Amino acid sequence: MSSIFLLQLILLAAASSASDTKPGCPDTCGNVTVPYPFGIKDGCSIDEDWFYLTCNYSYTPPKLLLGSYEVVNITLQGQLEVNNFISSDCNDESGSLYSSSWWMTLNRNAPFTFSYTRNKFTAIGCDTIALITGSSGRNFTSGCVSFCSDDGSVTNNSCSGIGCCQTPIPMGAKMFEVKVRSSKNHSEVLGFNPCSFAFLIDQEKFKFSVTDLSRTSSYNKTTLVPVVIDWAIGNGTCESARRDAATFACVSENSNCSDSSDGPGYRCSCSQDIDECEENTYDCRGGKCKNTEGSYSCTSDNKLLKVILVRLSASRPWHWSASRGAVDGLSPAEAVIH
Ligand SMILES: *[C@@H]1O[C@H](CO)[C@@H](O)[C@H](O)[C@H]1NC(C)=O
Ligand SMILES: *[C@@H]1O[C@H](CO)[C@@H](O)[C@H](O)[C@H]1NC(C)=O
Ligand SMILES: *[C@@H]1O[C@H](CO)[C@@H](O)[C@H](O)[C@H]1NC(C)=O
Ligand SMILES: *[C@@H]1O[C@H](CO)[C@@H](O)[C@H](O)[C@H]1NC(C)=O
Ligand SMILES: *[C@@H]1O[C@H](CO)[C@@H](O)[C@H](O)[C@H]1NC(C)=O
Ligand SMILES: *[C@@H]1O[C@H](CO)[C@@H](O)[C@H](O)[C@H]1NC(C)=O
Ligand SMILES: *[C@@H]1O[C@H](CO)[C@@H](O)[C@H](O)[C@H]1NC(C)=O
Ligand SMILES: *[C@@H]1O[C@H](CO)[C@@H](O)[C@H](O)[C@H]1NC(C)=O
Ligand SMILES: *[C@@H]1O[C@H](CO)[C@@H](O)[C@H](O)[C@H]1NC(C)=O
Repeated sequence: MSSIFLLQLILLAAASSASDTKPGCPDTCGNVTVPYPFGIKDGCSIDEDWFYLTCNYSYTPPKLLLGSYEVVNITLQGQLEVNNFISSDCNDESGSLYSSSWWMTLNRNAPFTFSYTRNKFTAIGCDTIALITGSSGRNFTSGCVSFCSDDGSVTNNSCSGIGCCQTPIPMGAKMFEVKVRSSKNHSEVLGFNPCSFAFLIDQEKFKFSVTDLSRTSSYNKTTLVPVVIDWAIGNGTCESARRDAATFACVSENSNCSDSSDGPGYRCSCSQDIDECEENTYDCRGGKCKNTEGSYSCTSDNKLLKVILVRLSASRPWHWSASRGAVDGLSPAEAVIH
């Protein structure tokens, strides 16, 4: 049985276009699909604050942006994937060549957190001390170290603690900064490992190879890695949200509310396929109703499609505190160009 996000249910789409987007709204930005509750045009997202994304058409293909972060995938299971830079520390015979550190910040009021189940803090190198510092309400600093003397001791295709190390991040993180340093400027391993890299990454997308340590590494200072952000609706738990019937999103009797597993908010999923048309759960004025599995859609004769919009928060000006940058006295732009 399909477990479909309830917001699809309250979305009345023209039967011909069985998309997850509100009628009249663009459903993609470049090659990324933008499902409701997200939207890229006025009136297309569930709110103007957090789910209204920017589609910048001056890129080819156009780029979907959450603040300054490029979004590469959105799922209705409550996750979206953004690209981020990696922190690096590179050396040559004369010592330090360059070093950069990156951070990511989500607005602390937004219903978004860095997924602690999908992401792992990861470092690559054989003279590598990597730290991740951040906040999940409480501050944290964690990290891992990796030292090895030759690439022969490194296990290929496995992040085992030799040449590559990983550690989890705490639940509910809203910001983090990654720093990577060496203990001896890679001087003892320069022959096979000039650089250390560290980043938070979707562990499902990470595969370590011995080659990543070498001069022909697939990582460099401009590499982008995917980071998973968990999203949810609202601010409270199912229990607290239910008390406010006017804004509670899981309205159907068959809708199963579950608390977000990392951070505030909740999600709705349909617990069984019901004939919403028959039960007249939702308004479908002036159109013909067609039941689909776990959802329903309406055709409208006069093209007047009614959308039941659940407003979850009062309107606020749209501004993200999303940012990223580099330390060591370099501006983000400099850190990329050097
Ligand atoms: C799109 O990106 C370009 C290049 O980064 C930037 O100059 C422009 O301001 C952006 N447009 C919008 C609408 O954000
Ligand atoms: C978009 O499609 C192009 C080729 O069709 C591909 O190279 C690129 O990686 C895709 N971008 C995203 C964000 O999926
Ligand atoms: C988006 O993520 C989902 C779940 O991980 C995956 O099934 C889907 O193929 C991804 N889509 C793209 C375009 O990468
Ligand atoms: C967490 O770190 C920030 C920035 O370093 C600091 O301003 C804040 O006081 C810290 N909070 C706690 C509870 O230690
Ligand atoms: C490590 O594995 C990759 C493929 O996963 C392969 O291309 C590479 O040659 C291997 N390197 C060594 C040293 O075995
Ligand atoms: C590493 O490089 C820095 C700057 O080039 C230098 O000050 C430091 O002495 C070097 N350390 C070692 C252990 O080589
Ligand atoms: C970084 O690596 C990519 C391929 O992984 C390559 O296309 C790019 O030119 C490299 N950039 C630098 C500055 O070496
Ligand atoms: C969560 O609560 C804060 C403070 O009460 C508010 O500023 C913010 O907009 C709320 N977020 C959502 C998604 O409702
Ligand atoms: C609601 O979801 C929870 C967690 O996924 C599950 O254990 C429970 O059986 C579901 N309830 C219904 C009525 O589907």
